Amino acid sequence: MITSKEYTARRKELMSLMHSNSIAIISAAPEKVRSRDTHYPYKQNVNLSYLCGFPEPESVLVLIPGRAQGEMVLFCRDKDPLRETWDGYREGPGGAVTNFGADDAFPIADIDDILPNLIEGKDRLYYAIGKDPEFDKHLMDWVNHVRNQRGNGALPPGEFVDLDHFVNEMRLFKTAGELKVMRKAAEISANAHCRAMRASKPGVFEYQLQAEIEHEFVVNGSVGAAYSSIVGGGKNGCILHYIENRDALKDGDLVLIDAGCEYQNYAADITRTFPVNGKFSDEQAAIYDIVLQAQADAIAVIGPGIEYNKTNEATVRAITQGLVDVGILQGDVDELIANEAHREFYMHGAGHWLGMDVHDVGDYKIEGQWRVYEPGMVVTIEPGIYIAPGNPNVDKKWHGIAVRIEDDIVVTKSGNENITSGVPKARDQIEALMAG
Ligand code: GLY
Ligand code: MN
Ligand code: MN
Repeated sequence: MITSKEYTARRKELMSLMHSNSIAIISAAPEKVRSRDTHYPYKQNVNLSYLCGFPEPESVLVLIPGRAQGEMVLFCRDKDPLRETWDGYREGPGGAVTNFGADDAFPIADIDDILPNLIEGKDRLYYAIGKDPEFDKHLMDWVNHVRNQRGNGALPPGEFVDLDHFVNEMRLFKTAGELKVMRKAAEISANAHCRAMRASKPGVFEYQLQAEIEHEFVVNGSVGAAYSSIVGGGKNGCILHYIENRDALKDGDLVLIDAGCEYQNYAADITRTFPVNGKFSDEQAAIYDIVLQAQADAIAVIGPGIEYNKTNEATVRAITQGLVDVGILQGDVDELIANEAHREFYMHGAGHWLGMDVHDVGDYKIEGQWRVYEPGMVVTIEPGIYIAPGNPNVDKKWHGIAVRIEDDIVVTKSGNENITSGVPKARDQIEALMAG
């Protein structure tokens, strides 16, 4: 659990980065209609979650550094016994103060009367510019309200600054409290992959393995998948974002599963590829071992001070070398790398930041240069090889083989820690687990 102390520390840090006479305004995500009276499961604006953990729609967090009556103001839905009977519990302004650390809280219905007064006189206004057109419009109404009072001496803010830039940079560095939650998300997700390996056999449908995985997520207290689970048998594994998961798994094929849970607002992101029937064929084993080597090489370079892209370079080198070794690529490895020959088979990067979002926030480059790894960052390492079923440049025996292996890696002071090692990836370990 992220403690209230940690939320307070996050807000304090953000406010220390803000101009002294300024205000930050962060709105809840809107609810989204799925069809007629049903909504998509609600997902809070992650930056609002990050700063206070308030879970409800129709809320607005306001931070005002140095405000005498308290720096945190929260607008939220009022208590409403009738609506709560239909739609569920609401904190109300009382709960916002007692349970979420607000210094002041007001009903959202009063925001148009109160917020312009909080904005008035501030030099700078921080918000997520252009992320939510509805909210942009509200914000301009509030600012214009202040502008219209100029005759009475009111001062509208002169500068608008993108808040996300500051919050995203903070989110890139995980605290001990965050890493604890991420380890739990990783553990649940690793167990779910083991469960899918045990449940696999020819004739089982992809959606049945998806159900095994997602059962394990939810039964352990996660809200479910952090992103749509990918379960691709055989050539379906060559479709990078295959989420239909409708086909039966075939004897002799591999199955590629990319799935991770969201636990207490943090994501895990794991991919494993294993034989449907529990035994790798020679061709599958050859491709699998190249990907495994590429992943090992990339993880080995991760540590403080190493440039982000070094991991990607390590995977490209290992995959190019491996494809030459098995005869799929021909030529000099350095030349092939220079010509990006791997792109036909490995068309994505080595990974991404991981955190409250599966593709987490945080810049990869600073002033045009790859940034370096620092302790507290979490990154996925997920090389893959995908040999399209009809690829005319490749012997038929390789067709339709798709392998990706993905783990979640924490950068530590001395190097790195793999937090998803709870699910095996060496071939003999996978075969042993599936046989048992
Ligand atoms: N699951 C999405 C990804 O691996 O990037
Ligand atoms: Mn990933
Ligand atoms: Mn993934």
